[in-house]
Amino acid sequence: MTKFDHKQLRNAFGTFMTGVTVVTTWESSGIPRGFTANSFTSVSLDPALLLICIDKGAESIDVFTQGEGFAVNILAEDQIDTSGLFASKRADKYDLVKWKYSDTGNPLLDGVCAWFDCKRNQVVDAGDHVILIGEVQSFHHTDETGLGYARGGYVNLTLEQTALQAAEGGSDVVVGAIVTHENRILFVEDEDTGMLRLPASGLDESSGSLKKLHAVLNSLGIGVSITSVYSVFENERDAQQFIYYRAKAVSDDIDGRFWSLDAIPWERISSEPVKVMLKRYCKEASSQLFGVYFGSERDGDVTTLATNDSESDNG
Ligand SMILES: Cc1cc2nc3c(=O)[nH]c(=O)nc-3n(C[C@H](O)[C@H](O)[C@H](O)COP(=O)(O)O)c2cc1C
Repeated sequence: MTKFDHKQLRNAFGTFMTGVTVVTTWESSGIPRGFTANSFTSVSLDPALLLICIDKGAESIDVFTQGEGFAVNILAEDQIDTSGLFASKRADKYDLVKWKYSDTGNPLLDGVCAWFDCKRNQVVDAGDHVILIGEVQSFHHTDETGLGYARGGYVNLTLEQTALQAAEGGSDVVVGAIVTHENRILFVEDEDTGMLRLPASGLDESSGSLKKLHAVLNSLGIGVSITSVYSVFENERDAQQFIYYRAKAVSDDIDGRFWSLDAIPWERISSEPVKVMLKRYCKEASSQLFGVYFGSERDGDVTTLATNDSESDNG
C-alpha cells in the first residue's frame, strides 16, 4: 500500500506535460483494439525502442502484453475527439475514425503527427501498470503539431500562440468562446438589462495564455474544452482586439443558458461584430465546415477548414 494520497499523487504526476497517443493492436480473431495513452516515452535509438505503460485494469491488457506487436499513433492537435474516443469503452471506436493496417497488421490512424509500428520487445511488471517496450519496425512523421496534455486537460499550442501574438500586439484584448452543446450556444445574461453576451475575459498579459478565459468558464460551473480559434478581429474605433474560440461543454449539467442555434434572440445581443460572427457560425454549423476569420470588424478573410467534429455535438 502506498503511503500517498492517490489523487494528490496523480495531480502531481499530471503537472508533467505530455503528448497524447493512441496505442493500437489486433486480437488473434482479427478485431482491432486501441486505447489512449500519454505514458509514451522514446527509449533508445539503437536499437530503436519506445515504451508505453498500460493499467493492469485495462480491458485490452492481455491483447497488448501477449500480442506480437503494437503501433503508437501520436495525435495531432485537432484530434481531441479521437483521444476521447479511444479512452472510452465504445466497441465501435474503429468505425468512427479513418485508419489502415500497417505492414505488420497494426491499425494506423489518419491525420496523426507520427506513427511507430513496433514488435513486442519486453513486458515489464511495474506496480499497478505494465511497461510495454516495443522495437520500432517502421515509422512515419508529418508536419502536424502534436496535441498536448497537462493537469488532466488538453493543451493546444496553436491556440495559445494566437493569444500570445495578440497580447504582443499591445492592444486591449478580449478573449471569448462560442461554447456549444448539441447545437446550442452558451450565453451569459446581464441581470439588469437582460442582454446576452458570449462568455469572455481579458488576456493573461504576463503569459498571453487562456488562463483567464478558463477561469471565467469554470466560474460558470460548466466543464468546457476549447477546441480551435474561430475569429480574430479588431474594433478599429477603440483599437480593441477580439479573439473568439470554439469550445464544447463537456459536463451534462446544461441548463437554460444554452440557446438553440435556430432560436437565438438576436435583439438581445448588443455587440454587432459578435452578431455577425454568430450568424456565420450558425450558417457553418449546418455544413460542419467552419472557417477561421482574421480581420477588422468590417472586412477580413475567412479561411475554411474541414473539421472532424463527430459525435453528438455540432460545435
Ligand atoms: C489523455 C489520456 C491519457 C491516458 N493514458 C493512459 C496510459 O498511459 N495508460 C493507460 O493504461 N491508460 C491511459 N488512459 C486511459 C485509457 O485510455 C482508458 O482507460 C481506456 O479505456 C483503456 O481501454 P480498455 O480498457 O478498453 O483497454 C489515458 C486516457 C486519457 C484520456
